[in-house]
Amino acid sequence: MTDTKPIRRIAIIGTGVIGASWSSLFLAKGLQVVATDIAPNAEAALRKFVETAWPALKRLGLSPGASQSNLTFTPDIAQALARADLVQENGPERIDFKQKLYGQLDELLPPDVIIASSSSGLTMSEIQKGAASHPERCVIAHPFNPPHLIPLTEIVGGAKTSEATIRRAEEFYTSIGQRTVRVNKEMPGHVANRLQAALSREVYYLVAEGVVSAADVDTALSWGPGLRWGVMGSMMLNHLGGGPGGIEHFFQQFTGPMTAWWKTLGSPVLTPEVQKILIDSVHAEAGSRTIEELEAERDEVLLGLIELRNKVAKSSQTKSTKSVA
Ligand SMILES: NC(=O)c1ccc[n+]([C@@H]2O[C@H](COP(=O)([O-])OP(=O)(O)OC[C@H]3O[C@@H](n4cnc5c(N)ncnc54)[C@H](O)[C@@H]3O)[C@@H](O)[C@H]2O)c1
Repeated sequence: MTDTKPIRRIAIIGTGVIGASWSSLFLAKGLQVVATDIAPNAEAALRKFVETAWPALKRLGLSPGASQSNLTFTPDIAQALARADLVQENGPERIDFKQKLYGQLDELLPPDVIIASSSSGLTMSEIQKGAASHPERCVIAHPFNPPHLIPLTEIVGGAKTSEATIRRAEEFYTSIGQRTVRVNKEMPGHVANRLQAALSREVYYLVAEGVVSAADVDTALSWGPGLRWGVMGSMMLNHLGGGPGGIEHFFQQFTGPMTAWWKTLGSPVLTPEVQKILIDSVHAEAGSRTIEELEAERDEVLLGLIELRNKVAKSSQTKSTKSVA
């Protein structure tokens, strides 16, 4: 594998929820995108998605050469792969489907083309069993929905993925502004979704037990820890939580209470009855606001937060460059 070949042309396999969003991001970063999907209305749906996403991407800053006209669609997979530098695979989350598809991709692509899977739950060790000739170029590059706004990509190799592939994938996604997280061991759900799942379990438990309503648990989360988590992660916040004594003092002070609370955390069973309690409570929280209104509210704040974080990251980068110089 040549480490230096620039990645300029991306083949998108599957243009559903994630494929359409990745396509929008790659186009905004000035890359060429060739997409393929088997659904009859896929091209129209994809173009509509990109057009709708474009104003937000413009607000966040388009790269030189970025244009929706760099998007090509073809129903023919071989045509989509021709001259691709990297494949972003976003097909249905089924192991039989992915293994068969990876066999096809492996045959059609030169060995130095990375095949990156968006898979949320399948492991690369299983998926790459389908790629008999060059499994070493297959890697998970898992986004957080929607990837055109949320700049997180988790990178995980399988048993046969080469270190060079992982490094090149990290470099590529970082170069287009993604924050990459390298997951060292394959885990169901990788990292970010596991964190969400752990928290959701307790949220559902507290609402189902009548401890708190959906509205109040969401307030507690989004105006409390969530506000801080939009800025820093749990480990760094714990370091601050210890005051001048940092993480060492945090553990001295909170190890006892925290581990005692762990023993009381819930593990709800999502029976139809429990789901009804949760659903009713969510509808009471949403009130008359439509999904579209709630999405618009979410995206407005999200864009502002991303802009602010980018600005702060840029200014601290400038400061550290100046201090090195
Ligand atoms: N939806 C999410 O929040 C999310 C988040 C991160 C990762 N993912 C992962 O992304 C992948 C795609 O998920 P999604 O939610 O976009 O699913 P989706 O159902 O919205 O899209 C899948 C697309 O694949 C297409 N497809 C099916 N067979 C095909 C073939 N042979 N060739 C080309 N296209 C084909 C379908 O027509 C469909 O458009 C999954 O692996 C999933 O785990 C999803």
